Amino acid sequence: MLTAENLYDKARETADHLLDILDEIPEYGIVLGSGLGSLSEDIDIDVEIPYKSVPNFPVSTVKGHKGSLIFGWLSGKYVMAMNGRFHYYEGYNMKEVTFPERVMKLMGINKLIVSNASGGVNVNFKIGDVMIITDHIFFFPEHPLRGANDERFGPRFVNMSEPYSMEMIKVVEDYAKNNGISYQKGVYLGLQGPTFETLAEYKMVRTLGADAVGMSTVPEVIVAKHMEMEVFGISVITDLGDEEFIKNVNHQEVIKEAAKAEPVVRELVRALVERY
Ligand code: HPA
Repeated sequence: MLTAENLYDKARETADHLLDILDEIPEYGIVLGSGLGSLSEDIDIDVEIPYKSVPNFPVSTVKGHKGSLIFGWLSGKYVMAMNGRFHYYEGYNMKEVTFPERVMKLMGINKLIVSNASGGVNVNFKIGDVMIITDHIFFFPEHPLRGANDERFGPRFVNMSEPYSMEMIKVVEDYAKNNGISYQKGVYLGLQGPTFETLAEYKMVRTLGADAVGMSTVPEVIVAKHMEMEVFGISVITDLGDEEFIKNVNHQEVIKEAAKAEPVVRELVRALVERY
């Protein structure tokens, strides 16, 4: 099991294993969440490794659970993409959920792109909107940095003044404006799931100052910032936490709406990787 104490050695071992296989060091790490899974089609794949063949990667107890690391070229840059992420609600601990980001950093990757699907609570949002994440609220029951701090990764107390790179956001906004792509910007609140929120909880999320709510991303971004990575986050609004839409919230709807918005998310991510 991954713990605060063995984390660095395990991540070092995994990073060295992957670097041995590759001829290049990736420039970007990309987490393909809902709404971005098909970005893998844009990647000119060099090497693909199933998670079960990656040393120290969390092992799934769920039957048929898939996932792989994809290395290849996207918009002219060599990237490492995670086709499938580890969610806290699946039972992984927070060191496991965020292990891939540890490995990325030790491989020499300094830029991270994360994507997800979320429920919109901002009254101006519509289903299918694409939201650039400008900030987040941590609402999980376990903190990924809890326990002994390993200074080789970063400091005990982490500055979170710019969790999402303003420069990266600007590159994407400029591209979107110049190409007539509409988008939203907002705050993402992460909680553990796996239940979708009650109406009262969606209202709470709005009251707390968030625009969207989901079950991932925030732990990975915290760990990336612990190691001073630059992060870009993007979310597809797949449902709305209000009286009218709450009855329709289910996994199939989330997947369906995320897939519809996917071409836009893919285009914005390609543009970012090319220009930044
Ligand atoms: N809540 C939590 N997670 C989600 C939602 C939601 O409404 N939509 C997609 N992921």
